[in-house]
Amino acid sequence: MKAVGLYRYLPIDHPEALLDLDVPAPTAAGHDLLVEVKAIAVNPVDYKMRAPKDQVETTPRILGWDVAGVVRAAGGDVTLFKPGDAVHYAGARMRQGANSELHLVDERIVGRKPTTLSFAEAAALPLTTLTAWEGMFERIGISKAGAHAGRSVLVIGGAGGVGSIAIQLAKQLARLTVIATASRPESTAWVRDLGADHVVDHTQPLAPQLAALGTAEMDYVLCLSAIEPYVAQFPAIVAPQGKICAIVGTSKPLDLGPLMAKSATFAWELMFTRPAYHTADMIAQHAILDEAAALVEKGVLRTTMTANLGRIDAANLKRAHALLEGGRVIGKLVLEGF
Ligand SMILES: NC(=O)c1ccc[n+]([C@@H]2O[C@H](COP(=O)([O-])OP(=O)(O)OC[C@H]3O[C@@H](n4cnc5c(N)ncnc54)[C@H](OP(=O)(O)O)[C@@H]3O)[C@@H](O)[C@H]2O)c1
Repeated sequence: MKAVGLYRYLPIDHPEALLDLDVPAPTAAGHDLLVEVKAIAVNPVDYKMRAPKDQVETTPRILGWDVAGVVRAAGGDVTLFKPGDAVHYAGARMRQGANSELHLVDERIVGRKPTTLSFAEAAALPLTTLTAWEGMFERIGISKAGAHAGRSVLVIGGAGGVGSIAIQLAKQLARLTVIATASRPESTAWVRDLGADHVVDHTQPLAPQLAALGTAEMDYVLCLSAIEPYVAQFPAIVAPQGKICAIVGTSKPLDLGPLMAKSATFAWELMFTRPAYHTADMIAQHAILDEAAALVEKGVLRTTMTANLGRIDAANLKRAHALLEGGRVIGKLVLEGF
């Protein structure tokens, strides 16, 4: 089958950073589905996994963790899907990614594809939806049924892939007052269109901008960008007993001590945790993606795809990696077909 993979971890402008390959097709066993990949989205995890290092692979490493496709075969333990079902999912970081014509994924982290979206539009959603949903509704306990309606949330990195779905979840489901960050006219327009009530500029100190809006202290803060520029700002901008969720890890020590005065909660979210550890509740990702699909079909949520870069091949994937590495992508980049 066709696949795009790597043997060496190289800068994206190196001719061998990503390669068009022909690799053996996998077969499904146990809880695995064999999925015909129709479309994929590209995420920062792809370029982070590809980041230059000395390691050399003997069999190609295949990246790609956002998929829409059709089930072609099912392992003996599969109960949730059958061949012919259209699905969307993010997958597991420790396994091969989905930049290949056929892909194996555990059924417990797969949801049905929203019927109202094309494969490309659907591929934009799963990884970022799982991240925003788990972060907001599970890690920091925002009510998705609207029990916290009227409370405030700051979405740092509002125009990115995760921010673009987090704003929708915060506005449409939780019914919070949403303040998103954006630093350019086009990203400001995008976050407003998705439902942000107010926009502040993350290149400037946040506290005075929030104070000027009359919401100096936020009930919830979603830090959807590198945490370093923000950690020292959290104590001022979080409300007493407020909650912060961050999704970008750091190797540097974080000084969270100043959050104690306000009894603020700090939580990490990593959407790969459930599949990585095969947690007893990993099937929650199946339920989240199915629920999200129903919300898309009802018109509550919309796709965050902003560009379809064409065929799934090394040249187009290199374009997507380079764009994402630039840190300026709005919404999601998608590729479709082989
Ligand atoms: N923990 C998890 O499970 C998980 C899941 C998904 C992603 N992530 C991580 O979360 C991060 C964001 O991912 P993504 O897919 O949303 O990214 P993305 O789509 O690449 O985000 C791009 C957007 O980020 C904004 N931005 C750039 N620099 C910023 C800054 N210093 N502060 C705030 N916003 C900034 C830009 O908006 P402006 O143009 O307005 O500046 C741009 O539109 C990545 O590091 C990714 O690896 C983690």
